[in-house]
Amino acid sequence: MIYWTYSTFSQEDIDRFERDADKLLSEEERRAYRKLTIPKRREEWLASRVLAKCLVTKVFAERDLGMCEVEVHKEASGMPFIVLDGKRVGRLSLSHSGKAAVIAFSPDSNARVGVDIERLEERTTQMTDLFFTPHESRWVASFEGYQLALAQNLVWSAKESYLKAIGKGLHLDTRKVAIGNVDLVNNNSGIWHDIAFSTDGQDEMHYSMVFQARRNYVLTLCADRQRKLEFVPLELAQVEMSKESPSLCLACKA
Ligand SMILES: CC(C)(COP(=O)(O)OP(=O)(O)OC[C@H]1O[C@@H](n2cnc3c(N)ncnc32)[C@H](O)[C@@H]1OP(=O)(O)O)[C@@H](O)C(=O)NCCC(=O)NCCS
Repeated sequence: MIYWTYSTFSQEDIDRFERDADKLLSEEERRAYRKLTIPKRREEWLASRVLAKCLVTKVFAERDLGMCEVEVHKEASGMPFIVLDGKRVGRLSLSHSGKAAVIAFSPDSNARVGVDIERLEERTTQMTDLFFTPHESRWVASFEGYQLALAQNLVWSAKESYLKAIGKGLHLDTRKVAIGNVDLVNNNSGIWHDIAFSTDGQDEMHYSMVFQARRNYVLTLCADRQRKLEFVPLELAQVEMSKESPSLCLACKA
């Protein structure tokens, strides 16, 4: 099973998390956070960590974990992973864009998963020509307005999800994964729809890829084929630290 969640956040949420940083973050995480200087980077880093911690405490609800007991560490490649009681646990993927974050987590360390979220902003043709295959560039150029932004961001996001699922990130050429045409008309908001894709190494035999549009964002998820997906509803605006018991996250334990 792959558990996943999505939430938007506001400046107020970030201010609250900063005030409660000692209850939310481990010492090591606080050190990493202090090193970040760019405000947007600090916001997305903090929001995605809090959301990841909420998701993991919910998945392991029976362990009654506090937020700072769930640590988010990173490999040299940039791939994030969860540490509980000093041990690496399961498989994690996270993404942030604008004022939203998406997290996917499986308790099974053999699971493969990559998630991505993109705000629906129009991309330049220089960008699509550089990172897309000629077929993808032609396909996105056949749209205009909202659908153009959706098509561009969907293709980009799908590539990133795949690159995260295989743990490579942008170290691999984005044209090594080719995204097929997608039905943009019949895509109900909040429901996963399949994306056809192909790679040089025929990874499409082992992975599946889905997308969904939500408000001004597109979400994609790439995972090994046999995994089921379960949505865990969480909202960063509802994360509050209990005064009586500082390690408890009310929204996550509810
Ligand atoms: C992973 C990557 C494709 C996503 O980039 P993005 O769209 O800017 O940002 P997203 O929010 O969607 O995803 C970023 C998250 O992906 C995760 N990630 C980074 N590298 C990863 C990898 N190799 N495998 C899996 N996940 C990875 C991280 O958790 C990161 O968030 P964090 O830095 O807050 O921990 C890209 O950042 C990357 O490849 N980075 C590593 C290589 C690099 O820095 N290249 C320089 C640019 S060419």
